[in-house]
Amino acid sequence: MTRIIGILSGKGGVGKTTTVANVGTALASYFKKNVIIVDCNITTSHLSLYLGMYYSPVTLNQVLTGKARIHEAIYDYHVPGLRVIPASLSLKDLRGVDISRLRNTIKKLSGEADIVLLDAAPGLGREAMATMRASDEVLFISTPFVPSTMDIIKSHQVALEVGVKPIGIMLNMVGKERYELSTDEVEQLAELPVTISVPMDKNVLRSLALKTPVVLYDPSSPASRQFFELAGRLIGEKYRIESFITRFLRFFGLSR
Ligand SMILES: Nc1ncnc2c1ncn2[C@@H]1O[C@H](COP(=O)(O)OP(=O)(O)OP(=O)(O)O)[C@@H](O)[C@H]1O
Ligand SMILES: [Mg+2]
Repeated sequence: MTRIIGILSGKGGVGKTTTVANVGTALASYFKKNVIIVDCNITTSHLSLYLGMYYSPVTLNQVLTGKARIHEAIYDYHVPGLRVIPASLSLKDLRGVDISRLRNTIKKLSGEADIVLLDAAPGLGREAMATMRASDEVLFISTPFVPSTMDIIKSHQVALEVGVKPIGIMLNMVGKERYELSTDEVEQLAELPVTISVPMDKNVLRSLALKTPVVLYDPSSPASRQFFELAGRLIGEKYRIESFITRFLRFFGLSR
């Protein structure tokens, strides 16, 4: 059965696209799942940029204008098991896009993968709402501050109204400052469990400059470990931090 998981946030810039790229890569590379990641942020699409995929002749835009079928917009990433449906980077490709088609379009991916991750636009506008309606479950991303947590409260209420199952919150860019909200405070405010906390980590920005997910760029960086852990939690499997010897053996094909 294919699970369709929407990655949403109230506030923008909190790490949705980063999470989709990294959790998708972790699910495929470490947990050997068949994964499709989809850029549902049509107006300000970034997913393909984060993966260094600049040329995609058919994108989700053409599918939502009725000019192509979803299967024509699926591209292999260099990680086996991971495929990407990009949105167009061109302004002219916004013309004629009917976002209300998203739900039925995404449903056509049923049976094509173990997990489909949807990268949403921020907020509760038409694009984000269409992504929520296309999802079976949603994971909310927030930073440990009041404004983004307050926005999750609204998004959570809407998810319940729409009938989508909320998984929990991923707290991102977490530091050690006293002025940050604690996990307990976020859980009390949002009435949702914090599924994982991902620290603020410069390696995420370094990996972005190289257009590669941080879980590939530096798998043992603090953020990467949490992305692997989150991927495992989403599917109920355990991530074991690999020792240098294990990684060495796996690199030379001497262990799985
Ligand atoms: N844990 C982290 N540590 C450091 N930087 C991070 C972390 N997570 C994300 N970032 C950086 O924060 C910026 C915003 O991330 P991202 O684009 O994933 O957010 P978004 O929620 O998708 O934004 P939008 O709402 O515009 O779609 C990027 O430059 C990204 O590299
Ligand atoms: Mg984004």
